[in-house]
Amino acid sequence: MLDTRFIYEPMLSPLPGTKEGDLRSFGGRTMKYPIWVSSMTGGTELANKINKRLSKICGQYGLAMGLGSCRQLLDSDEYLNDFTVRNLMPDQPLFANLGIAQVEELLKNNETHKIDALLSKLEADGLIIHVNPLQEWLQPEGDKIYVAPIDTIKSLLAIAKYPIIVKEVGQGFGKESMKALLSLPLEAVDFAANGGTNFSKIELSRSEKLKKEVYMQVSNLGHDAKSMVQWANEIISEGAEVKAKQLIISGGIKNFLDGFYHIHLANIESSYAMASGFLKYAMESEEELDQFVQLQLKGYDMAQAMLRINK
Ligand SMILES: Cc1cc2nc3c(=O)[nH]c(=O)nc-3n(C[C@H](O)[C@H](O)[C@H](O)COP(=O)(O)O)c2cc1C
Repeated sequence: MLDTRFIYEPMLSPLPGTKEGDLRSFGGRTMKYPIWVSSMTGGTELANKINKRLSKICGQYGLAMGLGSCRQLLDSDEYLNDFTVRNLMPDQPLFANLGIAQVEELLKNNETHKIDALLSKLEADGLIIHVNPLQEWLQPEGDKIYVAPIDTIKSLLAIAKYPIIVKEVGQGFGKESMKALLSLPLEAVDFAANGGTNFSKIELSRSEKLKKEVYMQVSNLGHDAKSMVQWANEIISEGAEVKAKQLIISGGIKNFLDGFYHIHLANIESSYAMASGFLKYAMESEEELDQFVQLQLKGYDMAQAMLRINK
């Protein structure tokens, strides 16, 4: 089956790999490719191994990384070593991660200094806030969210001295939410669209039979990355105020072709991110992950040289 997303142009560039790739900057750090490793918590046993493997490839190949939820580091240093990866990626963007419910609580208790301390001990460049109300709603013991997430983010932006990225966790955002986010001075808006890992589905699979049956369709709620790029483009063309610096397109991005397609479809500076795609190989071995990443980057170079987007 032909991949009609692309136009193949073999006449216009030298063979990829024969000239240096572009360097780009994100929040003052350098990236060799517009690719992020999305935030992933691995549980206490896996976090150390996975974080170190993933950050090593970020350092080696010039990619950016979001750490998995750092909630447990807010009040204790017991697991700090598992998240300490700056030495492995000294020049690349590295962001810590907290959920919207924790940020809401820290604001309420006047404890946002704990976020400053967290970033400082991780030597992180900024904070990713994950907004996951549907997942929390499905969890029997889910966190309560008392304030509209957009207001919590505005409150933090008003006092934060570090860059902030906002993401979902696998459902994406509707157009109004995206417009509200894009109007804020965020370092990036990360889609975490529906199409890949879906935490509502994971929550439901853990639920009892009746709940599963009644809420089965809830995990189908949300938006895919392509619709979200199209909304972002509409929001820009409608002349709305856009203060967010860029998009991170993620959620169901399986490889360099998906990533290349979406970032070139967007009319705003963008990079792409994968979670489960990297995790699969990170769980295998350092060598598997390294080979996977090399093939992805070589593929990206090929796309850049020979492909144009069929808009
Ligand atoms: C094992 C695993 C753990 C995750 N943990 C977090 C987390 O702690 N914080 C977060 O913001 N997102 C978390 N995510 C969501 C991812 O960052 C990403 O948004 C989502 O998986 C969609 O990307 P994908 O389709 O490439 O997997 C996790 C995903 C996976 C697979």
